[in-house]
Amino acid sequence: MSIDLVSEILRLKEEKDYVILCHNYSSPTLYPIADYFGDSLGLSKLAAKTSASRIMFIGVTFMAETALILSPETMVQQASSSPHCPMAAQLKQEQIKEFIEKYPEAAVVTYVNTRAEAKALSDVCVTSANADRIISQLDEQQILFGPDANLAAYVQKRVPEKEIIPMPGPRGGCYVHRQFKLEHFEQVKAQHPDAISMMHPEASTVLQDTSDYVLSTGGMERLPTEIDAQEFIVGTEIGMVDRLAHLFPDKNFYPLFTGGICYQQKKNTLYSLYEAMAFDRNVVRLDPDILLRATAPIERMLELS
Ligand code: 13P
Ligand code: SF4
Repeated sequence: MSIDLVSEILRLKEEKDYVILCHNYSSPTLYPIADYFGDSLGLSKLAAKTSASRIMFIGVTFMAETALILSPETMVQQASSSPHCPMAAQLKQEQIKEFIEKYPEAAVVTYVNTRAEAKALSDVCVTSANADRIISQLDEQQILFGPDANLAAYVQKRVPEKEIIPMPGPRGGCYVHRQFKLEHFEQVKAQHPDAISMMHPEASTVLQDTSDYVLSTGGMERLPTEIDAQEFIVGTEIGMVDRLAHLFPDKNFYPLFTGGICYQQKKNTLYSLYEAMAFDRNVVRLDPDILLRATAPIERMLELS
């Protein structure tokens, strides 16, 4: 028996009362079934105010966990089994505790790209869209920040009055963005000299400094509506190039590096999504104590952003 996956997913969405939240890196085949697209911050806000019976998250596990933390009465599922962002596993509770012992006066700020256990030890969480704004509002002068050392460096530059201490250290970061090199930038720029460049803050500081803009994926989605430009170099995961091309068919978007693929995000397919919806798979669960302790730092993030 062959089935039309898109029609079947739309039918299940109606029948089981799902809201489908889709991260900007997702494959274009998933566009027709999503209710909302966005960056980590935008999707968190949507999860917090949904009235649907179920949330289906097309993204990676830390995003789905954040949705559950903000909407604990709602059943949250993922579109594939264990699409864990490797960076989110780089900051363990024990490491955070060691840093707190060494810097007892510091605020603990975690990137939302962490597992719930790390969030539970945090004073506040941030995303790439609001990290500098939130950290600048904190009373503490010392800030323990992790796990992305490139985002830490970006915040340090934007908020020089604070001392940003990266946890677990300089190796913390995203394997996708860490592949991006200055040579990639120079090659694309040589081919498209008029293109405006936008870089995700998970990329190196050299690339951040070389680019016209440093933006979250949500910021990248807004930029073409805010400036008068026709061509853009996109310094983030390759799915963002598809997303931008879909949103702005009259403009041109060039990937900084075509090998910038997040294999965890790419686990989400129409078929894995259909299976999760049809057979109630990939339900996100958290230890109730962790969930409770992770709620305040996420809610504080939403208040401060
Ligand atoms: P955004 O919050 O900018 O969408 O980033 C999420 C992410 O995983 C970047 O690699
Ligand atoms: Fe994680 Fe990097 Fe994938 Fe984003 S692109 S989900 S940070 S591995």
